[in-house]
Amino acid sequence: MLRKLTLGAMLALGLAGGPALAAEEGHVTDFDFSFEGPFGSYDQMQLQRGLQVYTEVCSACHGLRYVAFRALGEEGGPALPEPQVRAYAEFYEVYDEALLDGQGDYRPAIPTDHFPQSSLSNAPDLSLMAKARAGFHGPYGTGISQLVNGMGGPEYIASLLTGYTGEQREEAGAVLYENEAFPGGWIAMAPPLYGDDVPFADGSPTDLESTAQDVAAFLMWTAEPKLGARKQAGFTGVLMLGVLAVLLYLTNKRIWAPHKRKIKHKGH
Ligand code: HEC
Repeated sequence: MLRKLTLGAMLALGLAGGPALAAEEGHVTDFDFSFEGPFGSYDQMQLQRGLQVYTEVCSACHGLRYVAFRALGEEGGPALPEPQVRAYAEFYEVYDEALLDGQGDYRPAIPTDHFPQSSLSNAPDLSLMAKARAGFHGPYGTGISQLVNGMGGPEYIASLLTGYTGEQREEAGAVLYENEAFPGGWIAMAPPLYGDDVPFADGSPTDLESTAQDVAAFLMWTAEPKLGARKQAGFTGVLMLGVLAVLLYLTNKRIWAPHKRKIKHKGH
C-alpha cells in the first residue's frame, strides 16, 4: 500500500513538474555504467577506450590539469603498463622553467607531469567535470533521486555528447549549438562526436552512444580515481559495525542476565 502510494506520488510529481523543468535543466539519460551500485567498479577496457577518445578528440580543446600521467598506470584505472604510460606522456610537451639555465623551455612530458590545461580559453578543464555536474535533480529540484541514482555526472556528460539536435544559431558573433542535455539548450561547443570517430583496438562498438559513454566513464575516473577503494572501505566498515553490534548485544544480555533472573523470582 505504502509502496503504491509513493509510486503514485512520484508519478504525479514527474507528470506535474516534468516538462517545465526539463526545458531548463536539459534531458539526461540514465545510462548504465559498470561503476554504479555498491559493488560496481571501473571497466579497465572502457577506461582505456575513453582515454583514447579524450586524446584523439577532446584534448584538442579541453585540459585535464589535475591528472598526472602516472595515474594512467594505477590499478583500478586504465592500468596501462609502465612503458606505455611513459610513451603516452612523451606525446605531450610541458614547459619547464628549470631548462636552459632558468630561461625555461619545452620538453616532452614524463609520467610525474600533469596533463596540460585547456588550450581553448572558453573550454573548461575536464578533470573534475563528472563531479561538478549533476545529471539528476528531481523530483522538483530536491535532488532526492540522487540517493538512488547517484549524482549523474557521467550520465550528464554522455547525454551532452549525444544530445545535439543539429540546429545552430549565431549570437553575438559566436555560434551556438542546440543541445537537449545542456541547461538552457544552447552550447558553444560544436558536436565533438558523430560516431565512428575513433577506431577501438579491442573491437568495441564505435557508434556515438558507446563512444560517448566510454569517454564519460573515463572522465568519472579522472574525477574519482579511488572509487573502488572507497567502496571497499565502506563495505569493510559496515561489516565490522555488524560484528560489533552482535558482540554488544551478546555482552549486554550476559551482563543483565543475573538481574533479570532476580526480578523474575521476586515476582513469584
Ligand atoms: C573544438 C573544441 C572542443 C572540443 C574538441 C571539445 N569541446 Fe567540450 N567544450 C568546448 C567549449 C568551448 C565548451 C564550453 C561550452 C559552453 O559553455 O557553452 C565545452 C564544454 C564542455 C563540457 C561542459 C558542459 C557544461 O555543462 O558546462 C563538457 C562536459 C565537454 N565540453 C566535454 C567534451 C568532451 C567529452 C569532448 C570530447 C569528446 C569535448 N568536450 C570536445 C569545446 C570543445
